[in-house]
Amino acid sequence: MMSAKDIGNASEAAYRVTNIYGRLYRPLITKVSPERAHTLALQGLRGLDWLAGGSTLLHQLRPETDDRLRLRVWDLPFANPLGVAAGLDKNGIAVEPLIALGFGHVEVGTVTLVPQAGNRRPRVWRVPEESAILNAMGFPNDGAARLRHQLLPLRPQGVVGINIGKNRDTSPDCAAEEYGSLLAAVFEVAQYVTINVSSPNTPGLRALQMSDELSKILASARDANERTAAVMQRSPRPLMVKIAPDLTDAELEAVAEASVANGASGLVAINTTVSRHGIPETYSDYPGGLSGPPLRERANEVVKLLYRRVGGQIPIIGVGGISNGADAVARIRAGATLVQVYTAFIYAGPSLPGKILREMSADADRHGWRSVVDIVGSDAA
Ligand SMILES: Cc1cc2nc3c(=O)[nH]c(=O)nc-3n(C[C@H](O)[C@H](O)[C@H](O)COP(=O)(O)O)c2cc1C
Repeated sequence: MMSAKDIGNASEAAYRVTNIYGRLYRPLITKVSPERAHTLALQGLRGLDWLAGGSTLLHQLRPETDDRLRLRVWDLPFANPLGVAAGLDKNGIAVEPLIALGFGHVEVGTVTLVPQAGNRRPRVWRVPEESAILNAMGFPNDGAARLRHQLLPLRPQGVVGINIGKNRDTSPDCAAEEYGSLLAAVFEVAQYVTINVSSPNTPGLRALQMSDELSKILASARDANERTAAVMQRSPRPLMVKIAPDLTDAELEAVAEASVANGASGLVAINTTVSRHGIPETYSDYPGGLSGPPLRERANEVVKLLYRRVGGQIPIIGVGGISNGADAVARIRAGATLVQVYTAFIYAGPSLPGKILREMSADADRHGWRSVVDIVGSDAA
């Protein structure tokens, strides 16, 4: 147990990290391109983790684990419901420091079978008026073999999911087979796998959400999952499907039902939107997907709709526009069992997970809930 003096030192250290972040990183992110700023932030976290005492410093930013926030999903132990959304750590270079900051899980990727460069730069833009981001990255990543190599030696203290996507040049006819190969390639280092068919930045990808295509992809992934599990004498990995917000209600329901019918273990809702609703008109010609607070309302609606349809059968990971504890609790009450953040972390920095978790605990104090699972879907009706 920490003595009062240790606690004092710890909060002093945490204060210093946050302060250093504010003084160095904030001005830096406004001077370099947003993509460079993301890379620098990840490399900074990784560097700090490597420094003697650095990881202890990162740990100080996370609050003591609150038992009311702990949960088991797909038989995996989550210290809390808050995770890092896919795209932030595409190559799995900062999994351990991200978990040290307080996140209960990290969704690494999107990873493709063969490394690819992604779209031409610039391909990430800030929308500071709304603390939002526009991105047209197109899955730049080092490929599945390299990711496996990167993650294999790690023993992270949190759950690691891997988000997989087809290579840009793979034709739709070969997509199902490729998702199967990807599943097998990352099986050993993934505690769950997310099938990404919802990024707006790979031409034709979102069409794979339609029932027939999605059924083929899930069948191929399930087959690879069972075969690899048998060979490795391990349990098959839970399979998620990540959904786009730009579908009609009927389409969303069809995706949810096709996912359940074809053995998916969960849904991740939502990816970025092609809508420019909620940001100044000056951005209407920018390409790519919008993320951050302008997505929040749609994300809540989609989670409610999915929860009403399939919530009794499979859990939902809620993502999109979550910036604080109130947003996270609202998303859980809408029907999400786990939640993720990306854009808010870029704007707020490393103190964000600790802050969100403390605010969730304060909500539990105020409203008297004893476990996250007790409030899942309480506002979905
Ligand atoms: C720069 C950037 C890159 C992203 N890359 C991916 C990706 O590779 N795969 C994916 O499934 N989602 C990706 N996303 C979407 C996020 O995972 C998330 O679904 C979305 O940003 C909404 O959450 P937020 O409002 O908390 O950012 C990306 C988002 C951003 C901003």
